[in-house]
Formats: sequence, structure tokens, C-alpha cells
Amino acid sequence: MSRGHWTDADIPDLTGRTAMVTGANAGLGLHEARQLARHGAHVLLAARNRDRGRAALERLAAEVPAERLELVALDLADLESVRALAADLTGRLSRLDLLLNNAGVMAVPERRETAQGFELQFGTNHLGHFALTGLLLPLLLRTEGSRVVTMSSFLHRLGRLDLDDLQSERRYSPYGAYNASKLANAVFTVELDRRLRAARAGVLSIGAHPGYSATELQSSGPRMGGGGLFGRLNALVTPAVTPLMAQPAARGALPALRAAVDPAVTGGEYYGPHLPGEMRGYPVKVAYRRAAHDPGLGTGLWDASVALTSVDYAELAGVSDRPTEE
Ligand SMILES: NC(=O)c1ccc[n+]([C@@H]2O[C@H](COP(=O)([O-])OP(=O)(O)OC[C@H]3O[C@@H](n4cnc5c(N)ncnc54)[C@H](OP(=O)(O)O)[C@@H]3O)[C@@H](O)[C@H]2O)c1
Repeated sequence: MSRGHWTDADIPDLTGRTAMVTGANAGLGLHEARQLARHGAHVLLAARNRDRGRAALERLAAEVPAERLELVALDLADLESVRALAADLTGRLSRLDLLLNNAGVMAVPERRETAQGFELQFGTNHLGHFALTGLLLPLLLRTEGSRVVTMSSFLHRLGRLDLDDLQSERRYSPYGAYNASKLANAVFTVELDRRLRAARAGVLSIGAHPGYSATELQSSGPRMGGGGLFGRLNALVTPAVTPLMAQPAARGALPALRAAVDPAVTGGEYYGPHLPGEMRGYPVKVAYRRAAHDPGLGTGLWDASVALTSVDYAELAGVSDRPTEE
């Protein structure tokens, strides 16, 4: 560690490992992919937009050997796309060491839906990743020491997960739905860890958050338009303020990278920036708010996610409904 902080210099040699980063064409995902490939991993860059994906691949190929990089198509807002990618990968890969559930969309001004009719932020940020992880579980289970890292946010602290209105049909607000989706990311990470432990599976489920980092997140959702005065103000103010307030994206990517590769990390942990407020800094172990560990919420969200996606993590069969250890 340099001056006591964990940095990209602490990433070990990853030669022979295969990693996939969702939303790898921009923001934090691009930095995560860059560092993993720089340290020798074969990196699958999952992107929904082929042109943006190709541009990112070309950018990274100027810095790392091109044979370490591969572009794959993934639209988390369409379970058909998630299924197609998972089928492709399970059909041809022999291992998957690291799955970084990074992609996300924030503060969509008006309620929108995914291809299957889920509220867009919950559907993309949580359900898409829930389905992707479950469908890739066979690959992860047969890869010794594999890890799933799921990106949450400090805003999970403000999230309210209403199991009777997961699709925000009764009540929608741009940040309400985002915060709920980020709490879902946290609850999923902890519940997956419980189930993996109960099944004595070697896969680790770990959470991360980037603090406040300068990326496209603050502008891409609001740019979708709508939302009246709030939407217009948000689209104007947030992208203008972010570069002044936020830490560089390369630093914001470090908590997810540490969760993915630090040998000292264990399942169920959560990594974020070290400075007070966790908005900026170097990656350290931090804590979810208590709701993320609520077993009732964990089971409720899990069961609802299985019902909505038809992905049932059958490979963990034999796991009791409510694991008793801990
Ligand atoms: N930046 C922050 O301050 C901050 C704070 C807390 C948490 N986070 C979390 O960090 C993660 C990465 O965000 P970021 O800041 O790097 O934002 P970003 O620059 O906007 O990047 C988001 C990435 O997600 C992709 N994406 C969005 N919807 C998708 C879909 N339906 N299918 C596949 N990919 C999709 C985007 O693809 P396109 O390029 O095609 O749009 C892009 O590659 C998110 O989970 C976010 O919630 C960020």
C-alpha cells in the first residue's frame, strides 16, 4: 500500500483470470476494466450500446494488449439480452473469476419501464444484475476463488424498499427509485453472501460504493427528459456541480477493485472511500446501514426477484430458506 492507502498499485497479477464488468464503456466501469486488464486479466467489457462499447475497447486497447479485451453486448433493462449473454458465456468460457455488477442509471425524471415492464432503475440496477449473477452462477461456482462485486451507493442509506410496490407504481420519484435500487443492491449482496455461505460455495459476494465520483451518472438519467421543472433543473444543475465536487472516477473505481482482488476481503463486506462521509478517498471496509442486513428484507427481495426474473439460483439448491448460521 502506498502511504497506507490501497491503490491500483496493490492489484495483484491477474494473469489467467477472467473478469466481466457491466457498464464497462463509461465512468467507473471503464476504469475498473482498465485496471483489471492492466494487471493481466482477460476482461469482458459488457456494454449495451455497440458504438460506445467499441469506442471504449479501442481506447483501452491503446493502453493494454488488445487480446486481453473483449466486447460483449448486455442490456440490463432487457432480460432477453441478459439471458443471451449468459448463455453465450456459459457455453464457451471455462471460468469466470470476477463479475463486477457495476452498471447503473440514476434519477430518471419520469417513471419508465424496462422491456419486461419493470421500473427502469430497479429493473436495471437490481433485477438485471440479479438475473445476470444467477445465470452465471454455474460458471462462478466452478471457478475457484471467484467473486461477485455489486455496486451500491451512499444513497442506499436513504432508500426505502417497499416489497408491495417494488415497481414504484403507486409512488414514483426519480431519487426515490434510485435510492431504493441501491438499497436493493446492498440487500442482494448480503443475502447472496448468506446463501453462498449456507451452500458452502467458494464464491464471495461483496459490495462497493464509489463515494461521489465524476462520471456521466449525474447527467445520463436526467437527460432522458421529462419530470417537469425538477427534471429540467436536475439536468442543468447536477452535471455542472459534479466536476467541482466529485472525486476523479479513477479513484471512485478503487473500492470495487479492492473488493474484487484484495486477498484480505471476505464475503458480505462492503468497501467505500475512507474520508468522513465516504464521499471521497481511498478504499476501506465500510458499513451498510442496518436494513441491508435485515434477513426478512433479504428473503423478501430475493423471493420477489426470483418471481420477477424467473432466475432461481437452482445451483444453490439444498440451501435452507432461512440460513441459521452467523
Ligand atoms: N458516480 C457516482 O458518484 C456514483 C455514486 C454512487 C454509486 N454509483 C454507482 O456506480 C455505478 C457506475 O456508475 P457511473 O458513475 O460510472 O455512471 P456512468 O458514467 O453513467 O456509467 C454507467 C454505465 O452503466 C451503463 N448502463 C446504464 N444502463 C444500462 C443498461 N440498461 N444495460 C447495460 N448497461 C447500462 C451505461 O451505459 P451507457 O454508456 O450505454 O449509458 C454506462 O456504461 C452505478 O451502479 C452507480 O449507481 C456512482
